[in-house]
Amino acid sequence: MNKSDNTETSLQFNIPSTSETQNEPANNGWTKPALDQASEQAQSHLQTQEKNISGWLAEATPFIGQSAAIKEIFALIEKVANTDSTVLILGESGTGKELVARALHNNSIRRSRPFVPVNCGAIPSELLETELFGHLKGAYTGAIANRVGRFTLAHQGTLFLDEIGTMPASLQVKILRALQLKEFEPVGGNKTLKSDCRVIAATNIDLEVEVSKGTFREDLYYRLNVIPITLPSLRERREDIPLLINHFIKHFNTKKGYKIEGVSAEAMDVLCRYNWPGNVRELENICQRLCILKSAGTIEVSDLPAKLHQVRALSSSTTTPWSHWLTEGIPDAGIPFDDLVTQFENDLINKALEQTRWNKNKAAQLLHLNRTTLVEKIKKRGLAPSHN
Ligand SMILES: Nc1ncnc2c1ncn2[C@@H]1O[C@H](COP(=O)(O)OP(=O)(O)OP(=O)(O)O)[C@@H](O)[C@H]1O
Ligand SMILES: [Mg+2]
Repeated sequence: MNKSDNTETSLQFNIPSTSETQNEPANNGWTKPALDQASEQAQSHLQTQEKNISGWLAEATPFIGQSAAIKEIFALIEKVANTDSTVLILGESGTGKELVARALHNNSIRRSRPFVPVNCGAIPSELLETELFGHLKGAYTGAIANRVGRFTLAHQGTLFLDEIGTMPASLQVKILRALQLKEFEPVGGNKTLKSDCRVIAATNIDLEVEVSKGTFREDLYYRLNVIPITLPSLRERREDIPLLINHFIKHFNTKKGYKIEGVSAEAMDVLCRYNWPGNVRELENICQRLCILKSAGTIEVSDLPAKLHQVRALSSSTTTPWSHWLTEGIPDAGIPFDDLVTQFENDLINKALEQTRWNKNKAAQLLHLNRTTLVEKIKKRGLAPSHN
């Protein structure tokens, strides 16, 4: 039984000096009572943030990966963390967008100030404006006191606008103004407030498509997209899977006292072949489940969830299973449609590339694809000559 012995690697950040971040927050437009409330809220927010920051720093390996794709991300984070540029983090769900946003904040001069996340997709659109910009007492029924918005709470810190793609059109224009002029009005007030916050946004939807559909403002898109960071899906960096698995197992062993020794080579092979539609989050959840159910010893193929067994059956099959299913019928347990289609496409692309010695023009001709489509698929699926 072979255990994976990959060692973990992680990004080592340089933490900037905090001496320049100790200035008192400026009166950024609030009246005295509102400022008191703001300072109270910001203070409690800061305390939570302190916990998060120390939690982050205490983690020896917060951001796992050593694939070329993830090394590029590390380099980009180091380059842009300590600037005030707006960053747009793109990537499928569970790829680590929030982790990157926190890394940017924690490695910037603003790190002793609040990191204020707002999940634009989770807050009902009618409440989002209040959440972001605050409101004045009496602004609407139920507004019984002034409320400080997240732009104010993030003053001198970082505002993380998560799921920005779901932002209602009426608010997009207000966000644009707040980004450009660093000022805004709370709901029910005509006094202009100021906030010096750095804005980081994230989305898992294609904003260019939303712009072309007219549901996302083009000017806001360009204003946000100053520095784009696109996180690769886990299936595009499969070489990181063993590292992540070992990291999560070690993490749960330490945190919960489990005694998992490792993963058998066969089980690791199945885990590496699975498509991970939920990316690192799905991998983390499966590792947690395996640790809870197994609690000690080595994780074997029989310990893996059923959906992963299907991948194994598929990859170990020497015949073409789909032709069998077409004649005999689909088994009651079902079949992983997306994985099958992706695998079939990958096999065809790999074959064409192998036959043409990785000449992409010729491979595209063989498959009647245009070259750009083929190149996109190769990139998206992380296909490489060594995988043949
Ligand atoms: N490279 C990594 N190393 C270690 N843990 C990771 C890594 N990437 C993601 N994670 C973990 O995976 C989980 C999901 O990450 P995160 O919340 O940052 O993803 P996300 O892209 O913001 O997802 P969503 O779009 O669904 O909000 C978190 O628990 C995070 O700690
Ligand atoms: Mg997220």
